[in-house]
Amino acid sequence: MKITIIGAGNVGTSCASLLAQKDIVNEIILIDTKEKLSEGKSLDISQMSSIIRSNTRIFGVTNDYSKSKNSEIIIITSGIPRKKGMSRDDLANINAKIISSVTKKSIFFSPNAKLIIVSNPLDVMTYISYLTAKIDSSRVMGMGGILDTARYRFFLSKKLDCSPLDIHTLLLGGHGDTMVPLYRYTSISGIPLMEFLSEEENNVLIEKTKKGGEEIVNLLGTSAWISPSASVIQMVEAIIKNSKRIFPCSVFLQGEYKLKNIYLGVPVVLGKYGIEKIIEIKLNKKEKILLNKSFLHVKNMIQKLDLNF
Ligand code: NAI
Ligand code: 2OP
Repeated sequence: MKITIIGAGNVGTSCASLLAQKDIVNEIILIDTKEKLSEGKSLDISQMSSIIRSNTRIFGVTNDYSKSKNSEIIIITSGIPRKKGMSRDDLANINAKIISSVTKKSIFFSPNAKLIIVSNPLDVMTYISYLTAKIDSSRVMGMGGILDTARYRFFLSKKLDCSPLDIHTLLLGGHGDTMVPLYRYTSISGIPLMEFLSEEENNVLIEKTKKGGEEIVNLLGTSAWISPSASVIQMVEAIIKNSKRIFPCSVFLQGEYKLKNIYLGVPVVLGKYGIEKIIEIKLNKKEKILLNKSFLHVKNMIQKLDLNF
């Protein structure tokens, strides 16, 4: 099993390190455009192999996509992250060209790969990768919802003084300010959240979740990478182990939720073929309005982009 990670920055390196610690793949290829960066990062991760008891081999290369040949999964983290005062959407023009270019090169050498996109603005970049790769949409997916629900679960666990592990929740929409966390579909060990928290109290936590990425950018001057990479590796693990786990991922909608020709976050089943099923849950009027707002936001961003790469 071979995995390629494009972008040896904060998220890409952290993904490689976490994956190596899990010891569930034979080989990781780390690619970046910056000379020596992937090589150095790969060496550093490789040198902890004996400590973490991992047989995963990690190779770093500068721009040499031939080394990624026949990868099962390609994780795309290349591009610029946001700085203080920037929104994820401000990254669109620069990252669109990068995503298209790295998708083209990587899919050429690994035509059967599944692509996991991380770069922002997430839903738009995943759509661009899908258009460029020209492969079935079940093999092109974006990571956003796992991170957003992880943040929500963390904030809820602090508020309720319970374990985040016991919190189950769902989220719809784009990875951004228009995300739609679902109060009605949240439970603590099967007990509906409304038994613990009023909708008004919950709304405070939802706002905190929406601003979760920004809070970290304001503290660090760049965006988060530790919880994002853990979220990516959860997707990788579900695919590799064919475990059919259900996660909110950004996927291509073709009529589901009455939305078409768009990448947006919805619950899906992840297995060895990638997105094996899109789960449609019943929404009330308010939730439908919020999802539609998120759809329009992502659509609007796509319409503003020049898609002739
Ligand atoms: P970073 O700046 O630390 O790393 C990005 C790397 O991409 C750099 O090393 C850069 O040299 C490389 N790169 C740029 N153009 C390239 C190309 N054409 N080919 C190969 N490599 C290239 O940034 P970080 O923090 O790793 O974030 C990466 C992206 O992921 C950003 O767009 C960020 O907004 C996004 N992100 C998304 C999250 C999500 O939940 N979907 C969470 C965290 C970050
Ligand atoms: C986040 O939510 C940067 O999108 C990334 O932290």
